[in-house]
Amino acid sequence: MTARPARAADQDEGRDPQGRDAEEQRLQAGFDATIDRDQRIEPRDWMPEGYRRTLVRQIAQHAHSEIIGMQPEGAWITRAPSLRRKAILFAKVQDEAGHGLYLYSAAETLGADRADLTERLVSGRQKYSSIFNYPTPTFADVGVIGWFVDGAAICNQVPLCRSSYGPYARAMVRICKEESFHQRQGYELLLTMMRGTREQRAMVQDSVDRWWWPSLMMFGPPDGDSPNSAASMAWKIKRHSNDELRQRFVDMTVPQAEKLGVTLPDPDLRWNEERGRHDFGTPDWSELQRVISGDGPCNTERVGRRTAAHEEGAWVREAAAVHAAKQAGRVAGGAAGKREGAAA
Ligand SMILES: [Fe+2]
Ligand SMILES: [Fe+2]
Repeated sequence: MTARPARAADQDEGRDPQGRDAEEQRLQAGFDATIDRDQRIEPRDWMPEGYRRTLVRQIAQHAHSEIIGMQPEGAWITRAPSLRRKAILFAKVQDEAGHGLYLYSAAETLGADRADLTERLVSGRQKYSSIFNYPTPTFADVGVIGWFVDGAAICNQVPLCRSSYGPYARAMVRICKEESFHQRQGYELLLTMMRGTREQRAMVQDSVDRWWWPSLMMFGPPDGDSPNSAASMAWKIKRHSNDELRQRFVDMTVPQAEKLGVTLPDPDLRWNEERGRHDFGTPDWSELQRVISGDGPCNTERVGRRTAAHEEGAWVREAAAVHAAKQAGRVAGGAAGKREGAAA
C-alpha cells in the first residue's frame, strides 16, 4: 500500500486531514524503524513513494544491464576457439539472462510492469550500465570482461545482498555466486592466454588497456556528483558510496594484474602506505557523460539489437499469453467440474 491511495480513501470517508497525517506518520515511523533495525522491507509493507521509485529505477537499470550485457560477449559464442570455451561462454551469457529475469521479477513486486520497463529501455528513457557500450574486437575481451566487469559487478553487488528491500537482496545472493564464477572464468582464460604466444599476451594487454578506465566508470560519477546516492544510502538500498566501491575494486584488482603479468594503464597508480590503499588517476568523466547520454561507441548497436530481439519475440509472448489463458480456463473449468461432481 502506498501513501497516495490511503489519502484518497481517507477523503472518501470524510476523515479530517489531521487524522490522515497521523496515519501517514505512523506508517512512516514503522518503515523507519524497520530500516533502523536492519530488517527487510517486503512487497506487502508500506513504503514511501520515493523509496519505491528509487528501487524500481535501480532494479530496472540493473536488469537492463544484465540483458544488454549479454551482447558484447554473446558475439563471441560462435567464434570461441574451442568447444570448451564455447560451452563456458554460453553458460555465462545464459546466466546473465537469468540475472535479468530475477531482477525484472523483483521490480514487478514493486508494481512495475515488465513490458513498460522494456519499452523504457528501448526508447532510451531508462539507462543500463555504460560499460556495455564498448566493443569486443578480440577474444581477450571475453576474459577481460569476466575479470574487470564481473569483478566490478561483485564489488557493487555483494553489499546489495544486505539491501533493505527483501526481493532485491535475495535475488542478489544467487547473482553474486554466479558473478564469482564469471570473474574466475575470465581470469582463467587470461592466465591461459598469458601462457600462450607473444601475440596472445599482446592481445590481453591491449584489451586491459581498453577496458580499465571504462571499468572504473562502472561505479558511477564521483560521490560529489552522484545526486541519488544520499537517499539510497539513508534507505540502506545502497551500503557504500561510488568512490568507496571504486577504491575496493582497484585494491582487489592490482595484485591480480601483477600475478597475471599485465600493466594497468594508469601512471598514477601506486600503493599509498599511509592510507593502506592504492592511489589512482581520475577517469575521464566527460567520456562517462557521453556514453551515458547515448553517444558511446556501441549504444545504437546495443539498443538496436535489443529492439530487434524484442520485436522478433512478439509471437512467443503472444503464444505464451494464449497458452496461459487456455490453462487458466482449464483450471477454472476443472474446478467447476469438480464442484458439479461433488454436488451430484
Ligand atoms: Fe550478471
Ligand atoms: Fe556476470
